[in-house]
Amino acid sequence: MALIALLPGDGIGPEVITQARRVLDALDLDLTYEEAPVGGVAYHSVGHPLPEATLDVARRADALLFGAVGDPTCDSLERALRPEQAILGLRKHLSLFSNLRPATLFEGLEDASALKPDVARQIDLVIVRELNGDVYFGEKGRRTTAAGHREGYDIMSYDETEVRRIARVGFETARKRRGQLCSVDKANVLETSQLWRDVVIEVAADYPDVTLTHMYVDNAAMQLVRNPGQFDVIVTGNLFGDILSDQASMCAGSIGMLPSASLDDAGKGLYEPIHGSAPDIAGQGKANPCAAILSAAMMLRHSLGNGAAADRIEAAVAQAIRNGARTADLGGTMSTSAMGDAVLAVL
Ligand code: NAD
Ligand code: IPM
Ligand code: MN
Repeated sequence: MALIALLPGDGIGPEVITQARRVLDALDLDLTYEEAPVGGVAYHSVGHPLPEATLDVARRADALLFGAVGDPTCDSLERALRPEQAILGLRKHLSLFSNLRPATLFEGLEDASALKPDVARQIDLVIVRELNGDVYFGEKGRRTTAAGHREGYDIMSYDETEVRRIARVGFETARKRRGQLCSVDKANVLETSQLWRDVVIEVAADYPDVTLTHMYVDNAAMQLVRNPGQFDVIVTGNLFGDILSDQASMCAGSIGMLPSASLDDAGKGLYEPIHGSAPDIAGQGKANPCAAILSAAMMLRHSLGNGAAADRIEAAVAQAIRNGARTADLGGTMSTSAMGDAVLAVL
């Protein structure tokens, strides 16, 4: 029996995870759950966003299902105590270095996309985002300049081994899809990116069956909106991948639709929607639970060896949407739980 660490977190996190759990329960799988606090909820109850007891559950679990963290009342705490440190800490402590963020347009959501229907319909891509390095984890701080001004700094760096392992994930992912890998960087300006590009080109020698291209991140942001259908797999660093995946979500209809998998090199993973705690709609039953439900499907496929159950969940979400199920972000009026009901009705 597999053990799932259930980490609902803050804001809409618990609301969407409740629906993901209902869907998992309906499939009658051999799973047990241990729930633990993360984020602002954990800070308010035990004084730390990622308590040792939560980390212990995370280490013991076969997979982690995560909602979201983020609490505006914590925004002026010292950084180490902020809710966001929970997700950053889990990614780092568990060596979850590869983040898969698929973006596809579900049939019927053409109107929800920010793009013209014919352009939107083409989107079918995966962003492979590096998750353990980059400017996220470099030295950061405050200092005073010679002129007496306050200065903030964050060091951006990548070690070649970090680039090599995520490049391999990019090539492997492309090999199983349409065989096209686009590496996104800013090599025209950043030395970190030039190393990134050099290493990706070296790794390409092992994947003659995959077509490798390179694109600067500013152009990639533009191309995602102009013609997202040109992308199969995008491999990129932590910061660029964060930004481009939120952008890709709106091409596909809503940030409430995009799931993600954060994997180590042994199959253990943390699964979460790409969105945050959405304080502006938290507690109102408005959140779209599809990203969380689809994250549960990714968990079954990538960590629990149950691709058939994952397929069933994804097909049920697609059919519910085809049937007209829509939360507010998709232009409808359904509540979070009604959207869960719609998926369960198909299952
Ligand atoms: P957000 O993703 O929480 O929300 C952005 C916008 O999208 C909001 O208008 C929100 O209402 C909407 N939205 C998000 N998810 C939705 C859903 N499922 N259904 C319908 N609408 C949805 O981003 P933000 O507002 O920049 O950040 C809020 C907090 O969440 C911050 O504290 C941030 O640090 C945190 N955050 C956490 C994660 C994570 O836990 N992995 C990810 C992103 C942001
Ligand atoms: C995400 C979030 C996180 C990130 C934050 C909350 C640390 O935006 O998961 O996309 O930047 O990775
Ligand atoms: Mn993000």
